[in-house]
Amino acid sequence: MGAQTWNAAQYARIGRFVADLASQVIDLLNPKPGERILDIGCGDGALTAQIAAAGAKVTGVDSSPSMVAAAQLRKLDVRQLSGEVLDFDHEFDAAFSNAALHWMHNQDAVLSGIHRALKPGARFVAEMGGHGNIAAIQVALVAVFAKHGIDAVQGGQNYFPTSASYDSRLRRHGFDVKYIEIIPRPTLLPESGMRGWLKTFRRGLFDRLPEFEREAALDETVRLLEPALCDDRGHWTVDYVRLRFLAIAK
Ligand code: BEZ
Repeated sequence: MGAQTWNAAQYARIGRFVADLASQVIDLLNPKPGERILDIGCGDGALTAQIAAAGAKVTGVDSSPSMVAAAQLRKLDVRQLSGEVLDFDHEFDAAFSNAALHWMHNQDAVLSGIHRALKPGARFVAEMGGHGNIAAIQVALVAVFAKHGIDAVQGGQNYFPTSASYDSRLRRHGFDVKYIEIIPRPTLLPESGMRGWLKTFRRGLFDRLPEFEREAALDETVRLLEPALCDDRGHWTVDYVRLRFLAIAK
């Protein structure tokens, strides 16, 4: 599977809705003045800045150089670091992550690193893609990329667990799970529609095709998805399913 790459400027135009829809997970975090909070997969820092505005001392980490550069422009403490190799030592009062954990391949390394980063009793609050997330999009991509001899999903660009399986995984890593829920959240896309979404969030996959085949593959994917995700006014809705949780480090 081609690794996903991020372009902060493109993300700011097309993916801004991701941070705009995060108010409930920020409420669940309930950041307090003076707390040290780790934001894993902080992207361009839109939510890191909101957490900092509540008076918390936030450190953001993200593996994308483009996203880290954009976050640093906001004058935030953000480092280029993958969530799979966190090297913090029992220093944070809370950890937070929105729409990022599902991009990380080694979930056990991620959860060990987060647990190690937290003080005993600290909170871990996150939202990620859950089981069934973007199901229609995945099926369309499998159909289109099969013609190019590429399995669009096997080997997994993303990990979308059920609440039962992530609950067990969190407990195995020393967390007490207080709340975990799958939340279907169909999401209306901005003007850029499905084409913009695919070019932003499946860029790594389309980049695996020779350049001359990419536009036709995009057209075909959009055509396949139209009956399921586009309404009679041309508005696109993505079939997002969220997994949201609050766990306490033991
Ligand atoms: C998500 O936030 O669920 C997501 C976004 C883009 C690609 C895959 C998942």
